Amino acid sequence: MIVLGIETSCDETACALVRSDKVILAHLVRTQLKEHQMFGGVVPEVAARSHLHTLYPLVQECLLQADISPEQIDAIAATTGPGLIGGVMVGASFAKGLALGLDKPFIAVNHLEAHALTPRLTHDVPFPYLLLLVSGGHCQILIAHGVGHYTQLGSTIDDAVGEAFDKTAKLLGLGYPGGPALESQAKAGNPNRFTLPKPLTHMAGCDFSFSGLKTAVRQLIESTHPMTDQDRADICASFQKTVALVMISRLKNAMKMLADREVAVGTLVMAGGVAANQYICSAVKEFAQKYELIFVAPPLSLCTDNGAMVAWAGLERLQMGACDGLDTSCRPRWPLQELTPSMEI
Ligand code: KG4
Ligand code: ZN
Repeated sequence: MIVLGIETSCDETACALVRSDKVILAHLVRTQLKEHQMFGGVVPEVAARSHLHTLYPLVQECLLQADISPEQIDAIAATTGPGLIGGVMVGASFAKGLALGLDKPFIAVNHLEAHALTPRLTHDVPFPYLLLLVSGGHCQILIAHGVGHYTQLGSTIDDAVGEAFDKTAKLLGLGYPGGPALESQAKAGNPNRFTLPKPLTHMAGCDFSFSGLKTAVRQLIESTHPMTDQDRADICASFQKTVALVMISRLKNAMKMLADREVAVGTLVMAGGVAANQYICSAVKEFAQKYELIFVAPPLSLCTDNGAMVAWAGLERLQMGACDGLDTSCRPRWPLQELTPSMEI
């Protein structure tokens, strides 16, 4: 089976064709970076219009790359939430139109589930597994019991971790998106120079909070005059180390919660855009090894938003016999716990 996956929930127009034997036939991502850079962040209206212009030619290019005709597609999957609703509607409407025109099933994909299932595309990860989902819009720890079946153990009560990276980078004048720029600056910095707060880490459970850390970094930046390149690198390294320590503290508590619930997992999966961060990834990997868990993080190109993850999530749902009606609504908010396979074929 071949599924076309369409992703338009933020500032990446992406599509991919994935086969059920886990072969990615085509995989294209057009970033809107340049269009948003001058605003220092994603402008929803600009994003939606850009998706509208880019999507059709991108899907055509995808078919060419895979060397298949539209009739050879077995189903069309699109992100229908959560995300910036204008962009989500562009992608979902396009997918529904294509599904109708080709008389193929349409599959509504939750963007978070797409991130969550990606490790099963790249590796053989059995359910249940522990999932650290860290992106620009989300920061959660979940148990993935099966397709459409997740238990949230903790979540952020304010900012997402990628957002904290982006805002810190913006304060340091590193441009947008901040995560990769901050990581690259941190390489030349001393992670032990500044001690920053680790909100909520003294508490039970595994919720996250980043607003206190963000404020502390802002105050540190404002009080560092003049700021040398070394100061900037040290702030980045200290910030990144603090985020890694927060992750580890929360994961420790998650392991306790798993034991209390008598859930045995063999794998710790890190997914979402922040999984591209090598420093945090190494810290989480080390943690997994300590707990004798297999550590899995998808390769970089599949960690940040892409169409292959949507196609794969669509495939997993399709293989369970699920598909969705063309009247399926798009949802700006759509927690993973609310997922169910919607309609049997
Ligand atoms: O998953 P994603 O592409 O989009 C969302 O669903 O949010 O994640 C984007 C986020 C951005 O906040 C970006 O700054 C962050 O992931 N990110 C990173 C790195 N690469 C991307 N954060 C830290 N270090 C990185 N290397
Ligand atoms: Zn994402």
